[in-house]
Amino acid sequence: MKVLAINASARKDGNTAILINTVFEELDKAGIETEMVQLSGNTIKPCRACWACSGQKNCVQKKDLFQEIFEKMTRADGIILGSPVYTANISANMQAFLERASVVTDMNREENWFRYKVGAAVTAARRGGALNTLDAMYHFFMLQNMFVVGSSYWAMAYGQMPGDACKDEEGLDTMRNLGRNMVYLLYALKERKDKNEKGH
Ligand SMILES: Cc1cc2nc3c(=O)[nH]c(=O)nc-3n(C[C@H](O)[C@H](O)[C@H](O)COP(=O)(O)O)c2cc1C
Repeated sequence: MKVLAINASARKDGNTAILINTVFEELDKAGIETEMVQLSGNTIKPCRACWACSGQKNCVQKKDLFQEIFEKMTRADGIILGSPVYTANISANMQAFLERASVVTDMNREENWFRYKVGAAVTAARRGGALNTLDAMYHFFMLQNMFVVGSSYWAMAYGQMPGDACKDEEGLDTMRNLGRNMVYLLYALKERKDKNEKGH
């Protein structure tokens, strides 16, 4: 099984990356493959509302990383969306990514790419807007027939400068618990899928 994380921070290996890696530690322990894509240094262009993706199985815009990441997403068993709080919301790159991902899935409904997959979101904030940011990412999962994983607290941690999130012990614990809950759900769903395939 594999979990793909998309980190939409403008800062490579910053606080959002720390949170994702903390979730990954639990997945690694359980033998689940992980990969983090960091959008830092790249710009994801917004949706052009051209609807040309209908029946095309991907966005038709080619000049950024979207197509490659979207394809990886369709192959993963679990998806983590990670964004720092920017002006009390997701980053512009995450917004652009989710606009296009939502339209492509809507225009290619018969593919059912994300049905029964597991989704989790994480965010890093200096002080305010974390819940709104998480909600914006949950909205994507909730229209894809996916299962969204919770934790012992909302999946956020506080910090401003790179590495600050390591000082937020409660935030890190929340991430570890999120990782363990993902493991539980991923294996439960795998068992169900295996049984279905055997005709039980
Ligand atoms: C453009 C921009 C806007 C931000 N807006 C907020 C905000 O509204 N609320 C907040 O708590 N932190 C805000 N921050 C701070 C970041 O959320 C915080 O530094 C976070 O730890 C960055 O995570 P990263 O290291 O993964 O980039 C903002 C940072 C930037 C660059």
